[in-house]
Order: sequence, then C-alpha cells, then structure tokens
Amino acid sequence: MAKKTILDFMEMKRKGEKIVYLTAYNAQMARFEEAVGVDMILVGDSVGNTDLGYDSTLPVTMEDMVTFTAAVRRGAPNTFIVGDMPFMSYQTSIEEAIYNAGRLIKEGGADAIKLEGGAVVTDTVRAINEAGILVMGHIGLTPQSAAQFGGWKAQGRDAEQAVKIVKDALALEEAGAFSILVEGVPGAVSQVIRDKCSIPILGIGAGAPCDGQLLIVYDMLGMYETFKPKFVKRYGNLAKDIKEMLAQYCQEVRGGQFPTREYEYGMPAEAADEFQRLLEEEGLA
Ligand code: KIV
Repeated sequence: MAKKTILDFMEMKRKGEKIVYLTAYNAQMARFEEAVGVDMILVGDSVGNTDLGYDSTLPVTMEDMVTFTAAVRRGAPNTFIVGDMPFMSYQTSIEEAIYNAGRLIKEGGADAIKLEGGAVVTDTVRAINEAGILVMGHIGLTPQSAAQFGGWKAQGRDAEQAVKIVKDALALEEAGAFSILVEGVPGAVSQVIRDKCSIPILGIGAGAPCDGQLLIVYDMLGMYETFKPKFVKRYGNLAKDIKEMLAQYCQEVRGGQFPTREYEYGMPAEAADEFQRLLEEEGLA
C-alpha cells in the first residue's frame, strides 16, 4: 500500500474516517504496524520511558531520537512517520529548532515532526513549517511540561483552561501545523477543537470525538507495567506472556531440556569420520 500523505489525512477527516496512529521505537514493531496497515507512526520521546529506562522523557536527546526514528523508518518504509522533538531541542532558539527538525527528516527519515506547546510555540511552528517541514502540534497534557502542571494530570477540566486549550489549537493551525495531537483532555474539549479546526485532530486520552487515535504501543500490548493511564485499553498482556516464556527458557536451560537435537547443527557422516581421524592424529581424541 502506498504511503499516506497529509492529503489523505485531510480527506479522512473530511469523510469521518478515523486515522490510526500508534507509537513505535524499533524496526521490528514498525514492521508489524506497517503489516497491519497503521496509518501513521509516532516515534515518541516516550522511548525515554519505554526503552531507555528513564522515569520521564526529559533526558532523551536528539541523537536518541534520530537513532530510533531511523530504525522505525527502516522497518516501515511505506508508513507516514512523525519524529518527536525531545526536550530542549526546540525551546532555546528558532534556528536550533529548524536545525533539529531537519535532522529528524534528513537523518531519521521522518515525514513530519511533532513538538509540544500551544500559542507559545507558534513562532517556532511557523518557522519550521516555512523551512519546508511538516509540523504536528501537541497540546493538553504535554509530558515535557508535566512539572508545570504539578504532575501527570488531565488538562482542560475547568472551563477557563478548556478555552485556553481550544485557543492553543487554533493558534497552531494558524501557524501552519498540519495536524494537532491533543492529550489528556475531556472529550467535550476535543470535540470543539475537532469542529473548529480544519486540520486532523488526533487524540491520546482525549476521547472519541478526535479524527484519529494514538496509543503508546507498549501500553496497548500490555507490555508496560510501571503505570497504566485511565485512557489505555490493554489489548493483551504481553508482559505476562513474555515473562512466562523467559522463565520457561531459564528452566529448560538449567534443566538441560533445551537445546534438544532438533536445535543442533549436524555434521555429514564423512566429515564426522574425518573429524574423528584428525582428532586421533592430533592426539586430541
Ligand atoms: O512521546 C510520545 O509518545 C508522545 C505521546 C505521549 C503523545 O508524545
């Protein structure tokens, strides 16, 4: 199937067809996602939590994001990929933001970048867009600023904050964002954003009204046990399955049940005879 473009996503919004968006951090998961027809993949800085073992996304670097984005691109050559801008890769200056966004495109092979923030980042969004790079906005519960919210808390649950989030969305659209990810807000707020914006509105923990849905792939597979947000639906329990398989491997290696002959390379009879002869000749038999 051909890789989808922003025109396809606009058309999907117009027709009310939901956009399927999922994170991936490595080539194998990206292969699986491409095989089942996921529309858009996010290489999120959530890789800091999922694969790098940090307890937040803040330590993730540009080098990390380029490496993981390139791996996902190799696994999913025909899927639209969004590379996430890590903390402090776009806040210090517009020049640095353009340069770093360019790295995700040139070195990571992403089709677009995502950065967090509303009205305060519109100059940056405009500049990156004018440099020819597609920008996805990210508003609501933006993890890089969780400390400013007093922790990982749903946003827009009071009327004034909700209006501010709607205004942030409109400002991002006006600045040229091709799409906006809305995280951790009530469905009533996402619905207004979806109706007011002409660009696709994707949601994670933002209810059904959005034009598409994102989940962290390890969350929906039941692989990430540390924390389960309210909005995560687990489609399986891979953590349990993986641990059971690992435990069985440990047990079989220790008990000598693995490997059996089935998993061993054989030697042709002639080579085995010759091997024996040589061992004897060398005094090694
Ligand atoms: O990094 C990420 O995966 C994200 C999601 C939490 C929305 O930005």
